[in-house]
Amino acid sequence: MKKITIAIDGHSSTGKSTLAKQLAKALNYIYVDTGAMYRAVTLYAIQQNFISETYFYTDKLIENLNDIYLSFKFNDDLGFAEIYLNDEKVEDQIRTIEVSKLVSKIATVSEIRTKLVQQQKKYGIDKGVVMDGRDIGTVVFPDAELKIFMTASPEIRARRRFLEMQQKKMDTPFDEVLKNVVERDKMDSTRTDSPLIIAKDAVVIDNSNLSKEEQFNMILKLANERI
Ligand code: C5P
Repeated sequence: MKKITIAIDGHSSTGKSTLAKQLAKALNYIYVDTGAMYRAVTLYAIQQNFISETYFYTDKLIENLNDIYLSFKFNDDLGFAEIYLNDEKVEDQIRTIEVSKLVSKIATVSEIRTKLVQQQKKYGIDKGVVMDGRDIGTVVFPDAELKIFMTASPEIRARRRFLEMQQKKMDTPFDEVLKNVVERDKMDSTRTDSPLIIAKDAVVIDNSNLSKEEQFNMILKLANERI
């Protein structure tokens, strides 16, 4: 059966990764969470004291880019691949509010984007991939057969992220989560290199009032029409 490439972009906390995982499972495709890659670079930069809320030693991080090795390993129990930074699993460490506050600064650096985009393109070489992020349909796979752009109101997105963090016992106040969601969207949409924009041929989905199931069925249908 023909395999396609599915690019899922959109605003922060719109449920892109949940949807992408569901699609990858249903179609037996690989799933790549590119946000996790930018987050893992951010974690590395924090660990090396290259970035904090008050400073960012961009040049030092760029000089050390070759020391950052990112990989994904499939976890059979969870049913999706988890991210490793220099062979250490960092799936939980990259989801903290500290990383969320700094990741969009890291994502403005062209040298970092070039490195990660190169790796992302390799994952899609044989198609059969669902990838989510901010520039997948515009930069990583401009020829993807299916491009989705997801959005929802900031309050609804922050509420979902807040509940998700609470489940993981991360006690961040709702207002801080909301502020982070709004600030990240602004930085991601206004940066010079690969800003978050809607690809011309993307299907835009506002899921403020859609259940996960409705959304999944709708997009699976779009995928099947292209296979
Ligand atoms: O998807 P997630 O919210 O985990 O992404 C974290 C951040 O990584 C985004 O807010 C954005 O700054 C950056 N990112 C990016 N390009 C991608 C994926 C994520 O710039 N393809």
